[in-house]
Order: sequence, then C-alpha cells, then structure tokens
Amino acid sequence: MSFDVDLFSTSVIHAGLSADPATGALLTPIYQSTTYLQEAVGVHKGFTYSRADNPTVAALERALGALEGTPPAVCFATGMAAISALFLSILKSGDHAVISDVVYGGTVRLFQQILNGVGISASFVDTSRPEEVERALTANTKIVFIETPANPTLKLTDIAAVARVTKRAGIRLAVDNTFLTPVLQRPLELGADISVLSTTKYIEGHNATVGGSIATEDQALIDRLRLVRKTLGCIQSPLESWITLRGLKTLPVRMQRHSENALVVARWLEQHPAVERVYYPGLESFPQKELGDRQQALPGGMLSFEVRGGTGAGVAVMNSVKLCSLAENLGAVETLITHPASMTHADVPPETRAAIGISDGLIRLSVGLENPRDLIADLEQAFRAAASRSKAGSQSGIERRDACAAAD
Ligand SMILES: Cc1ncc(COP(=O)(O)O)c(C=O)c1O
Repeated sequence: MSFDVDLFSTSVIHAGLSADPATGALLTPIYQSTTYLQEAVGVHKGFTYSRADNPTVAALERALGALEGTPPAVCFATGMAAISALFLSILKSGDHAVISDVVYGGTVRLFQQILNGVGISASFVDTSRPEEVERALTANTKIVFIETPANPTLKLTDIAAVARVTKRAGIRLAVDNTFLTPVLQRPLELGADISVLSTTKYIEGHNATVGGSIATEDQALIDRLRLVRKTLGCIQSPLESWITLRGLKTLPVRMQRHSENALVVARWLEQHPAVERVYYPGLESFPQKELGDRQQALPGGMLSFEVRGGTGAGVAVMNSVKLCSLAENLGAVETLITHPASMTHADVPPETRAAIGISDGLIRLSVGLENPRDLIADLEQAFRAAASRSKAGSQSGIERRDACAAAD
C-alpha cells in the first residue's frame, strides 16, 4: 500500500485539538453540561444543548475528521447508532440498499427487524464480486454499504472497484472500516463517499466505551446526519468522547502491534494439527492476499479459524481459554475470543450463516497487545484441554451459548 502507518502518528495526537482557551488544560476537558448560557436571545458560542452538540464531542469529531481527511466527523452513541442514522439520513420508504453479505450481524438485524418494517429494503450480496453489486442495483437503490474486511470471515471487498460501480450509477458508497481504521485503510481515498467506524473497537481500543462515527466530504449529508442525530437523540456522550480521544492518540502504534501479533498467531495456528483453516489477510494462503496488500497498509489484528472436529471441538476450545477472554467485542488491548454463530451473528439466520461461511464452529480472535508467545501458550493449552474434554465426551456447551444470544 502506498502509505505507512507512521504517517498518522503526529496528527492523531495533535490534529483538530488545542489547549483549553479558558484554563490552558492541555487535554480537552470533559464538558459535562446539558446546556449553555446564551448571551442574548440567539447569541451563543455555538453550543445550545448537549443532545445537539457538545465541546468534548466536537473535539473528537475534529480529531476523527482530521484522521479521515474530511470535515469534522459526526459522532454517535454507538457504532449501530451511526449506521442507523446513516441509513435514515439517506433512505426513505421505498428505497433500497445493497450491502455486503458478510457484515456485522447488527447491520443485518437493522434491516430485517426494523427498516424492512418501514418499507426500506436491502439486498445482501457478495460485494467481493463488483459485478454482483452492479447486478443488485435497482432504480430505487440509493446506497451501497460494504464491510471490508468483513466480520467475521475477513472476506475483502475491492473498494476502488465497487466505487467505480457506484459512481457510474450515481449512488453513494459507504465503507464500514471498523476492522482496520483509517490508519490501515483509506476508503475515501479509494473512491468511497462515506467512512463508518464503530469507535468502540480499535479507535478507543481499551474495551472501555461504545461509540460510532461517520466521516464524509459531503456537507449536505453531514448536515442531515446531525439533524437525524439531534432528532433521534443518539449523540456520543462527553465522557465517552474524552476516553475515545485518549485512545485515538495511540492508534497507529496499536494497529501496528495488533497486526504483528495477529500474524504471529495466525502463522502458528495455520501449522497446528488441530486447526482446519485460518482466515487472515496476512497469510500467503489467504485467497485475497493480493487485494489486501494493495488496499491495506497492514492486515490488522482480526483473524478467524476453524478447528478440526467441527462445532463441538470449536466450542470446547473457546470454553478452555484462560488468558484470552471469551467475550463480544474486538479491537482492544486484551485478546478476545468470540463465537460468531451464537454471539455477534446470532440474529443472522442459520442457513444464511452457513451460505456465507460462518460455520457453527468458527472462532473469531481479536488479537490484543499481549506477548504473542503467551497467547500461543494459552491457545495450545486450550487445544489440549478441548481434546481431552472431547475424549471424556463432555457436553459441547453450545446450547448454553444459544440461550445467551438474545443479549447481543
Ligand atoms: C464491523 C462492525 N461494525 C459495526 C459494529 C457496531 O458497533 P457498536 O457495537 O459500537 O454499535 C460492530 C460491532 O461489533 C462491528 O463489528
């Protein structure tokens, strides 16, 4: 890729930020205030009510905009709030969206359980094949929304190729860049119109907040997003914004180390006799490695794999880790192990999951910043414990996890 991670090391610390003019505080304070004193009717300093805007949120928006290379981003309470606001800003009843078939389960649920009910439809297609995107467009299609790498199989979509399709059709292209962040992948420079992030993940990076952001050059869309946000009441909070700003400052360093660690773990997994298949864009065996090398600065910290022995064996491994945490989330300093079929993608119908490669035994690993030797030692002991459990004929535990699925 034609940029390196260090390109952003200075700007993530300084861009869009300045010492507090009132006190000189180097870091933007947490402006924990609902409302703002107005000097006279209609005369104020730009802030009126914290559902509409807040100075700490605005600082995060300037910083993220600077990183994306756009005007200030629009920040939301969660990544799903950002994605929901995006679709509600662009689509009305009768409109249609084209979306990657492999995509975060919440995006599927948004259409299948909410937007379909108000007459907004979507086709989920294999966006790694731009011709399928083109074929899915209808007269009512207003947006193509892709996730690359996709959660959880890491399937890649060629952003520039899909951007050519959407430009020809005169519609917008949005990219959920949560897995890589603008430090490792630059959707807007590859021709996309909108960059979407769950800041919950790598941007904040410490398992401490939930949040989302949308960046675009399109000022009319920014204004619309702000209107939708104010109306739905889904702005990011000042405290979460402040924590996210702090996380952002170390993003390039973390992304580099996440990628290095993930490559070490992926290579180890690939040669392990208990492992059937590993999905990681940094491996020579990854079918889209060439696209990853072209589109991404580094392969990132996410991988998934299947162990031999199917679902029971996979679940047994997830139940046996000690250092890795069995939890829903990704992109944080702690290594998290996740069972997509019962957690993040539980609301995707089982037959759809099977068709797009999310097997019931698939394990997703968000490789953290621990010493990779310790992670490997943990996985090794989990493989051994799982093997001896299966010899002892113990229950897989999958029924218990299915019972938890509704919580996500
Ligand atoms: C790729 C991707 N996009 C969006 C989201 C939603 O973000 P949030 O959990 O902050 O609402 C997630 C959550 O896991 C995700 O993985």
